[in-house]
Amino acid sequence: MEEKFIIQGGVPLRGEIEVRGSKNAASKLMIASLLTKEPCTLENVPLSGDIDITRELCENVGSTFNFYGDHSCTIETRMVRTSSVPELSRKNRISVLALGPLLHRKGFAEVPVLGGCPIGHRPINLHVEALNRMGVRIERREHSYYAESSGIHGADIEFPYPSVGATENVILTAVLADGKTIIRNAAVEPEIFDLIRMLRSMGAEIDFDETLRCITIQGVAELRGVTHRVLEDRNEIVSFASAALATDGDIFIRNIEERNLLAFLEKIKEIGGTHVCEKDGIRFSGRRPYRATTIETSPHPLFMTDWQQPFCVLLTQAKGQSIIHETVYEDRFGYTKDLGRMGADIVVSDTCPEGRTCRFLGMHYNHSVVIKGSTNLHGAEVTMPDIRAGMAHIVAALAADGESVISGVEHVDRGYEKIDERLRMLGAEIKRV
Ligand code: EPU
Repeated sequence: MEEKFIIQGGVPLRGEIEVRGSKNAASKLMIASLLTKEPCTLENVPLSGDIDITRELCENVGSTFNFYGDHSCTIETRMVRTSSVPELSRKNRISVLALGPLLHRKGFAEVPVLGGCPIGHRPINLHVEALNRMGVRIERREHSYYAESSGIHGADIEFPYPSVGATENVILTAVLADGKTIIRNAAVEPEIFDLIRMLRSMGAEIDFDETLRCITIQGVAELRGVTHRVLEDRNEIVSFASAALATDGDIFIRNIEERNLLAFLEKIKEIGGTHVCEKDGIRFSGRRPYRATTIETSPHPLFMTDWQQPFCVLLTQAKGQSIIHETVYEDRFGYTKDLGRMGADIVVSDTCPEGRTCRFLGMHYNHSVVIKGSTNLHGAEVTMPDIRAGMAHIVAALAADGESVISGVEHVDRGYEKIDERLRMLGAEIKRV
């Protein structure tokens, strides 16, 4: 039966919390474990839906999992039973990353077509073109991608856009390829660096130049097992921090560092919120109304596309006119209609804001919003369309007067572990029914 959240808004969040490991890192690290016959132990793995889907993929292939109850697990893929997994019980965007590792183990691979959040077209042309250049042939079948190769070799690849997934796909394929691979205009997200750290410990030879956006990989003959701790989830940090500020709260997030959050912290300061970096974490607090600002989402190290949704809610609580320009995905503002039903004043537009341009210019995608505030939000019945938009619904409901009923909870469960229980620990009145 479909689950819902019932939230009584208006309670300031207070207390201490720890964030989980990043699901967008952990899922790729699970795929990296397929590159070796030896056991790989991952610590700080979040227990979220996307991890379950990736586990299903690995188990289909022949991996055995041992979860220890403390967010760590050992994955061992001594033998690849089959490299053809044309179907899984649910879809996400991770399975295409298994092509390289499965090709190395078996010479051919088949994975299901991708799912994931409905936030744009999300093609995989950059993955396919790059792997083609490395000697991999990929065929799109009705429900799957089939890949084969008679020898995977290094290549010099320059991406027209720094795609996270395509960069990861090339890295996972290049580590055991014959010769050297260079990725230019690579994505340099911290989750990619986490993957590189794990692969290096497994014996891979990888150079990473964040400033030049250049990754160089010298293929090796084999990789070994490893124990690796998954990087903290930046999206969880931003979600909790935004919820605290939107409710006039004061929370301390333990065991996090500011280094991967600089663009977010700068915006918090600009709108008049407070963050204090302490020895073992960061404290976030603030009182409405905030000051208006302009945000443009971009690849790392700039303001991340997965942060704009909870931040948009925060900007409904800022005095004056704020703007968000989304330059990563062409269709990521659908959720603002629901915020409008909760009392926000948000106008969506298919133009770039004055004085700015992006690759969506003239393409008639609704990729920018003007938010006028501050407005009083009130509870409503809304449905989550995807993971991060779902978080915007939750933050809005926490900040609103009265009761909200939110359905589509499976989306947020795919990206956050037990988000309701953890918000309750901060005083939120949220029930799962
Ligand atoms: N793109 C192409 N062709 C490609 C690949 C990407 O045109 O072959 C375009 C996409 O359509 C999009 C842009 O490039 O417009 C960026 O896509 P990217 O490949 O960087 O994103 P991704 O790997 O599919 C990951 C995260 C997203 C996060 C983005 C950007 C995972 C599983 N997903 O997606 O996270 O927003 O990077 O940082 O790691 C989420 O967690 O809710 C989420 C959507």
